[in-house]
Amino acid sequence: MILDPLVFRNGARARNRAWLAPMTNQQSHPDGSLSDDDLRWLEMRARGGFGVVETCAAHVALDGQGWPRALGVYDDRLLPGLRRLAAALAGHGALGVVQLFHGGLRSPRSLTGVAPLSATAYEVPGTERARAATETDITRIIGQFRDAAARCSMAGFAGIELHGAHGFLIGQFLSASINTRTDGWGGSLEGRARFAREIMRAVRAAVPERFVIGMRLSPEDHGNAVGLDLDESLEVARWLCSDGADFIHLSLWDASINTRKRPDEHPVPLFRTAIPREAVLVAAGGRWTGSDAESLLGMGADAVAVGRAAIANPDWPKRQSESGWLPRRPPLTLAELRERGLSERFATYMRNWPGFVAP
Ligand SMILES: Cc1cc2nc3c(=O)[nH]c(=O)nc-3n(C[C@H](O)[C@H](O)[C@H](O)COP(=O)(O)O)c2cc1C
Repeated sequence: MILDPLVFRNGARARNRAWLAPMTNQQSHPDGSLSDDDLRWLEMRARGGFGVVETCAAHVALDGQGWPRALGVYDDRLLPGLRRLAAALAGHGALGVVQLFHGGLRSPRSLTGVAPLSATAYEVPGTERARAATETDITRIIGQFRDAAARCSMAGFAGIELHGAHGFLIGQFLSASINTRTDGWGGSLEGRARFAREIMRAVRAAVPERFVIGMRLSPEDHGNAVGLDLDESLEVARWLCSDGADFIHLSLWDASINTRKRPDEHPVPLFRTAIPREAVLVAAGGRWTGSDAESLLGMGADAVAVGRAAIANPDWPKRQSESGWLPRRPPLTLAELRERGLSERFATYMRNWPGFVAP
């Protein structure tokens, strides 16, 4: 049940299985340091009862920033803000988890000041061609993920999630269509998964046992996530758990549909079988009601991540104990979004999601 506690294999415990999905919201300070707006939005969800409160994608390196005013975790000077956020989330009884991110070819020069890099030289139409990461870049970025995780642990968070979904740098390495390297960091599945695995191992070695670590994955192609194969993703998830992942987080966008490769099978039971029983499986995608969430738990997920429903309903978990409660659904006016703890900037950003903000 969604309100049952969730215990990770390292003993960390969330009060329930409702997980705030990572959501970019462009309200940090321009240098990536935490703003009062960041704090207000996430603290309200911790107060609303989420067992796990995950941050937006936070860049581990300046050349990996994906959006203006994104949260940064790339330097120790960001620690005061990170400590403030970690303390606030823990103070409301939530496990605070930071999503660690590098955009790769989706980190534009306009933000970073440098040419984007990726697994191989690659061009997304309308954007600058990314250069292929050198061995030196790869070693540096693995170290930056490791250091960012250690920084989050030092700041007092309960854990981190590596953003391997949605076609950002880790996903670009996993992709068979983007990553055609021949030097041991690409080509075969072992080669393409090496970047993700080495980051996972480096992070595991750099943080205390009790610190929760996991990976978000897109199981199949969707949007910017390309070159993925369901069976390869299942193998990668299994490997990551042996490398030290405490959880695997499936980004499904619409969790009511089966896989494209095997239309009679749903991804949740497939991943449940693929990864060890003691690894937590989180799934996200289009969950609005408690029974939407329960259906995923029934298929074998251990926790359900809620995104847009949590914007509209900051106390979504608390309300699950009220029989007959139904969540508020979009559209919401800008004033209603402000009441729900969104800054003007975040509320305006939500216009990118058709139908979410009232005209
Ligand atoms: C405004 C917004 C920002 C998002 N930013 C991120 C992000 O930073 N990292 C990520 O992994 N997913 C991101 N997502 C995807 C969500 O985490 C989630 O998987 C998706 O919205 C589907 O869940 P939902 O239907 O409950 O919203 C974002 C979604 C939204 C709506």
